[in-house]
Amino acid sequence: MTDGNWQEVAKADDIKPDEPIKVTCGTEDIALFHVDGEIFATHDICTHAYASLAAGFQEGGEVECPLHEGRFNVKNGRALCAPVTEGLKIYEVKVDNGAVFVKI
Ligand code: FES
Repeated sequence: MTDGNWQEVAKADDIKPDEPIKVTCGTEDIALFHVDGEIFATHDICTHAYASLAAGFQEGGEVECPLHEGRFNVKNGRALCAPVTEGLKIYEVKVDNGAVFVKI
């Protein structure tokens, strides 16, 4: 067993502040967020029902689900307000030579 593999998922330049993107890596749907020059990765699907957070509304370090307006901290995955109560899975990210890698 390994503790995860680094997978290249995007180019850093393609992830603009407050414009999250969704990538799929194997069976994982991942949302990528640009916050103050850093890239963060969370599971893309809201923990409340079923909505893509990459299609939600990012404001700095928070994203609002497009379906029922639950909010998450994109840096640590924490659920911030009702109706979401369960946090998001987050992924380690590294940027190398302009490419974004996520540890799966
Ligand atoms: Fe995200 Fe309901 S599906 S808040």
